[in-house]
Parts: sequence; structure tokens; C-alpha cells
Amino acid sequence: MKILVTGGAGYIGSHTIIDILDNTDHEVVSIDNFLNSDPETFERIKAITGKQVRNYNIDLTSYSTLKNEFFLKEGHIDGIIHFAALKAVGESVTKPVMYYQNNLNGLINLLKCAQKFDVDSFIFSSSCTVYGNAEQQPVTELTPTQTPESPYGYTKLVGEKILSDLAKTKLDFQALSLRYFNPVGAHISGMNGELPKGRPNNLVPVVTQFASGWVDDLVVHGTDYETRDGTAIRDYIHVSDIAHAHVLALEYLNTKKAASNYDVFNLGSGNGVTVLEVLHAFEKVSSLKLDYQLGPRREGDVEMIYADNSKATSLLNWELQFGIEDAMSSAWKWQKFLNKAKSGDKVPL
Ligand code: UD1
Repeated sequence: MKILVTGGAGYIGSHTIIDILDNTDHEVVSIDNFLNSDPETFERIKAITGKQVRNYNIDLTSYSTLKNEFFLKEGHIDGIIHFAALKAVGESVTKPVMYYQNNLNGLINLLKCAQKFDVDSFIFSSSCTVYGNAEQQPVTELTPTQTPESPYGYTKLVGEKILSDLAKTKLDFQALSLRYFNPVGAHISGMNGELPKGRPNNLVPVVTQFASGWVDDLVVHGTDYETRDGTAIRDYIHVSDIAHAHVLALEYLNTKKAASNYDVFNLGSGNGVTVLEVLHAFEKVSSLKLDYQLGPRREGDVEMIYADNSKATSLLNWELQFGIEDAMSSAWKWQKFLNKAKSGDKVPL
């Protein structure tokens, strides 16, 4: 099959490309405009897999460019995995129009092209943010979604709705929304990982960059939650496990195992872990002591969320390979790789 991965240079997109190239015969082509990623990612993918991925530097919000410069040139595409989107929750509150424009217009243009060029399989990057502050934990796919706290969250909820509405009108179109919990860690080689532009927002890159002196402070946001140590609980899931779920999801669509032509899956580990437990896991695997500060809650954060992942494990045959310590040690290996690259030392690309 020929698979279009949008956001192929991004964090989850690049790990998914690596998994597809390592474990299937599919051809991969990427669209990424490097808004929040780096062209060098494709060099790293090549170093890991031995394969060069063709990337189109196209802004998905331009329908005519997408149609003329990608779909008309590439020929038939069998499936689309759509990662390309903005994901900083706080930034989405201050720049809502940019988030709606980028995340929703990008999705809509892709779907217009999917209809025009007969692409029947579509996998959408959604998020556990659609569950909001759910009362019952762990959350299953049947847990009701809630009004999102942020424009970012809305773009995921609306994205899911667009797909389910489209699936109702077009029975030969199959779509899945994959609700990611907190993807963390890096490729086992330590040669590919998360590298947001500017100061990271997400916990694990803040931790590894703080340990390397790239950021000045590490603040635990909130110590008065009703959890075992007062800090918020999340479901941290290794990015390579998330990536592999996409390969299984493609197979699931391709073998027409799905009972309906639209469905959602939770991609989480099933374990709730506190912020302090993440920091301690890092300290354990790195043998470093983190001089973190305790601070107030971060606006918009929920107290606790973790997944019931049994639907993905049973229907997609998803088996998790990694735990939180594997995630922290691979993230640290990746950070040390970046430190070497920054210092001008030769990195093993
Ligand atoms: C949120 C969304 C997730 C989305 C992601 C995109 C929820 C529940 N989760 O992740 O679905 O994909 O944004 O970015 O809505 N923390 C600190 N100090 C820091 C950074 C983070 O204490 O410097 C804490 C946060 O307060 C939170 C935890 O670490 O409790 C995880 O934060 P983060 O990595 O930013 O992810 P979420 O906000 O959970």
C-alpha cells in the first residue's frame, strides 16, 4: 500500500514512519511544512531504517496546493495517517484562530482530497483531551466526551465529529480516531525523539532539557490534587508503542475487520502515573538528581486521566513493549544525542 503520513517530521509521525518502514512493505510519502519540526528528521529516519522518505513541503490549509502539488503528482494513495496539527494547549488559548485554521482546515482539505482521489482509509490523531475532567477512571471509549477546555481540544473533538459524519455518508470510507494519552520517550536507538521548537510545554522534554541545562527551571504544576502524592495523574505511553498501533490500525482497516466504518480507540498504557513519579523514574534511569520546584496548578489541567486500553489491545492486537522507565531512559538517550549535536560533536547519523 502507499500511505500518506502528514506531519511525517513530527514526533509521533516520524516514529510511525519508522515502524511502517521497519515492519511492513508499505510505501510511505510525507507532507510536512516544518512549522514545528525539522527536515533533518528525515535524515534520522534514513539512518534508522536505511530508507529515504519523500516529503512534500506543503501547507495543508491550501486546498489547491494540496490537490495540485501532491495528489495530482503522487497518483493513487491507499491510506492517510493525519498527524499534522498544532498541539500546544496554552498557545491555542491565546491564538485560537490559528489553531482552528490550521487543525480544522488542514483536516477538511485532506478529506476533500480523500473523496476526490478515492482514498478509503483514514487515521486521525485525536487526544484524551476529549474526555475532559472525566469522573470515572480509567476512561473507556464509551466515557462521554466533554466540552474541551481549550481551542486545541475543540479541534480534536470537532475533527472526530467531521470524520464520523463523513463516514455516515460514504460507506466505502473507513476512518479511525486514535485518542492518544501522553506520548513520551524516543526511538530505542536514541536517534529520534521529541524536539519542539522553543521551550517545550510537555513534561518529559522539559525534564530532559532541564537536566541538560537547556531550560532554566523545572516546575511541578500543582501539588494539591487529590492523588497519592498531590500531583496530577496522566497515562504516559511510549511513542514507539503509539507508533506501532498505527501500523496495526492500518492492517485493521485493510483487512476490513471493523464492524462499522468509523470507530475510536484509546491509546494509553492503562497506568496512571503522577508528575513526581515521572521525575523519580527519570532520576532512577539517569542517576541524576533533579532540582525541581513545586508550583501552583497550570490553568486548564485536569487532575487525573488514564486509559482503559482493552479495546485497542483486543481489536487491534496491540501489545505494549515499553514502560515508563524505558520511556524515560530512551528520552534521556535522545537528549544526550541532541546535546552532542549541539556541541558540534559528530553524531552517529
Ligand atoms: C495535554 C493533553 C493531551 C494532549 C497534549 C498536547 C489532557 C489531559 N492532555 O497533555 O491530550 O495531547 O496536551 O500537548 O488534556 N507538567 C509539570 N511541569 C511542566 C510540564 C508539565 O508539572 O513543566 C505537568 C502538567 O501539569 C501535567 C503533566 O505534567 O500534569 C503532563 O503535562 P503535559 O506533558 O504538558 O501533557 P498534558 O497537559 O497532560
